[in-house]
Amino acid sequence: MKFGYFDDLNREYVITQPDTPLPWINYLGCQAYFGIISNTAGGYSFYRDARLRRITRYRYNNVPMDFGGRYVYLRDDESKEFWSPSWQPTRNDLKDYTCRHGMGYSVIGSTYSGIEAHTRYFVPLDENLEIWQLTVTNRRATKATISSFASIEFCLWDAQDDATNFQRNFNTGQVEVEDGVIYHKTEYRERRNHFAYFACSERDASFDTQREAFLGRYRSWDKPATVEAGQLTNSIAHGWSPIGAHQVKLELAPGETKQIVFVLGYHENPVDQKFDPPGTQTINKTLVKPTIAKYLDPKQADASFEQLRQYWESLLGIFQVNTPDIHTNRMVNIWNAYQCMATFNMSRSASFYESGIGRGLGFRDSNQDLLGFVHMAPIRARERILDLAATQLPTGGAYHQYQPLTKRGNNDIGGGFNDDPHWLIIGVSAYLKETGDWSILDEPVQYDNEPGSEKPLYDHLQRSFNYTLARLGPHGLPLIGRADWNDCLNLNCFSDTPGQSFQTTTNKEGKVAESIFIAGLFVQAGRELSAIANHRGLGTEASTYLAEVAKMESVIIKHGWDGEWFLRAYNDFGDKIGSNECKEGKIYIESNGYCTLAGIGLEDGKAAQALAAVGKHLATKHGIVVQQPAYTKYYIEMGEISSYPPGYKENAGIFCHVNPWIMIGETRVGHGDLAHDYYSRINPSAREEISDLHRCEPYVYAQMIAGKDAPSFGEAKNSWLTGTAAWNYYAIVQWILGVRTSLEGLEIAPVIPKSWPGFTATRTYRGVVYKISIERKGDGNQIALTVDGASIKGNVVPPPTDGRKEVTVKGILS
Ligand code: GLC
Ligand code: GLC
Repeated sequence: MKFGYFDDLNREYVITQPDTPLPWINYLGCQAYFGIISNTAGGYSFYRDARLRRITRYRYNNVPMDFGGRYVYLRDDESKEFWSPSWQPTRNDLKDYTCRHGMGYSVIGSTYSGIEAHTRYFVPLDENLEIWQLTVTNRRATKATISSFASIEFCLWDAQDDATNFQRNFNTGQVEVEDGVIYHKTEYRERRNHFAYFACSERDASFDTQREAFLGRYRSWDKPATVEAGQLTNSIAHGWSPIGAHQVKLELAPGETKQIVFVLGYHENPVDQKFDPPGTQTINKTLVKPTIAKYLDPKQADASFEQLRQYWESLLGIFQVNTPDIHTNRMVNIWNAYQCMATFNMSRSASFYESGIGRGLGFRDSNQDLLGFVHMAPIRARERILDLAATQLPTGGAYHQYQPLTKRGNNDIGGGFNDDPHWLIIGVSAYLKETGDWSILDEPVQYDNEPGSEKPLYDHLQRSFNYTLARLGPHGLPLIGRADWNDCLNLNCFSDTPGQSFQTTTNKEGKVAESIFIAGLFVQAGRELSAIANHRGLGTEASTYLAEVAKMESVIIKHGWDGEWFLRAYNDFGDKIGSNECKEGKIYIESNGYCTLAGIGLEDGKAAQALAAVGKHLATKHGIVVQQPAYTKYYIEMGEISSYPPGYKENAGIFCHVNPWIMIGETRVGHGDLAHDYYSRINPSAREEISDLHRCEPYVYAQMIAGKDAPSFGEAKNSWLTGTAAWNYYAIVQWILGVRTSLEGLEIAPVIPKSWPGFTATRTYRGVVYKISIERKGDGNQIALTVDGASIKGNVVPPPTDGRKEVTVKGILS
């Protein structure tokens, strides 16, 4: 069952039924001001940091799940009936409800009692504000007298404090209202120099700023007393809960349309110019007023919207593909790329599953996310890499997370996740392959943000590699530390105390438990580092890396091979994990994915054998599960993984993030059909028809789909902010379609399904547009390339040396 449809031409998903199984959301903003918006206008906004600069309030774990947001109400002043065109919060029986989620905007509306109304929400480029354009049309044969209301609830800045510190918070709220603009200025009197505002394009509007005045006692957003009565009260908030509400009365002739613009924004004043006149407690509004006036003008709002459209057009234009599979095209050309920008902007901070008050940016998460967005935002990727590297510790290890506002490593979590440092090599390598900007390696970067500790970025990569060499276990495999990629495989934790963090509790020395996943990652990162060293003219150093890689490969074959697949780990007792010998958890996805992706066992058939075992034991119709059999009870020596009921999360759930490792592995052994089949099983667009089972948005990946051991097999959870976005984009574009960046140039090596006659693609790469067409003439993956008509050797297209800005590449697969 579907709840809407894809409008690919307009790059929108159109939801036609408001009660989607879960809130289906979109993101507003792409630089500093951000918002989450659901298909029924729920959600919240913030400036840069979802915890510390929250602009509007949101209640997690609310009932219903999506309650509180950017709510518009209309009231027929004759019949006194009122409703919300976005369905929530009043939930009337609407006609023609639609929510169009597009690239950085959402348009939500409907018709009720002959009144058609739509609101377009978006954040203009380069501004710290959001625009709501409300359009109301009278579809009746008679004149209509309508009151329109727009409302938001302010957050007292620190979202965590806002939700907990009531003895203080019920006293601090302050607002000002001037020329009809509501200014939220809680704590502006003391140490803050920022405020929020909510403005309306109509001058003779009334307002409310005290929540209780607006809602009335014991009422909620579905039935505000003022909306019911048809009159706001011009209340001024003192303490309690400041809100912003505007009321505008509209007289509409039959067929007439009127538009009202609302602007919700954030502004920072220079610290020495906070007040006007100086010495008073009144906000100095001279700097913000012109901005407010500018965007309340509907023409300016339209022009800004057009700019936003063009911005996305050019970003998505960097890579476009046309294959025989509509789901591939749609995800690659539109939604997957768009999701990658969301993970770049938000990392794992703010969604309807990530509260925005918990963690900062993950070291491994952000490095992997680079794989998906580096082509769209190379300059911002560069900055991100340098920020991440500056949180690396002198040992080569890394803080597991850092706060985006302070850019400092997070001491509560600390380090000791022994895979972390290698992701920096992978991230930097992806950046170099995309941009060819070798200067980044010479950038001085601090360790642990310590002034004076600056070393070139290259030094950070060397320490990343050596970190593992200094931490090998009894079999010569890398020690796992607190956890490797799988945050829930906590082999040194041994926790029997409720509430203890599995990630930060370490009750064992950590000198025994080893990870075959990290071993595979080490091999791949080592190869990348060696290629980088070679490029820098450090041939001897490059060979040393390769020698270590070869050594690790033989250790993996000797101690990490179980006979039919790669083992997962050794635990603190030196026992195998992910082995046929185990009662539960006999085979795991991560080590088999990463080892085959890294090319281990390609020559002697072990890679193909491991992948076949994954296909046999782990693959399901909804994707590939983490391990089998699922853990049926809590194992103290395993940690969090066995704390989840079977089929959920890391305990045999389909963790979508790791599925692409298997897809890439399959391309390495030449299985285009299977690689694309696995791709399609978790492709959200290909799952649209089963939206009632899948439940999450059909336009973005979710972190997890419940595995076959779960009662809700096939149900997705935790959409949007997941490493799945980058990895699936990387797998389909660079490995299945095979349009791959390399240090030498653009490589073309498709491993596509046999049934495909070919595909075409356009890729802008290092300033040159590559027009690519691939034609299949045989069943295999052998490719012969011609570039501007001349055939070339190998599969790396040489960068033009004569200033050509467009190159035609033809590939024949046989
Ligand atoms: C979450 C974490 C990521 C981890 C994964 C598997 O997605 O953000 O760092 O690798 O879970 O546990
Ligand atoms: C990771 C895991 C998640 C776990 C969390 C704990 O994000 O994916 O399952 O609950 O870490 O911090």
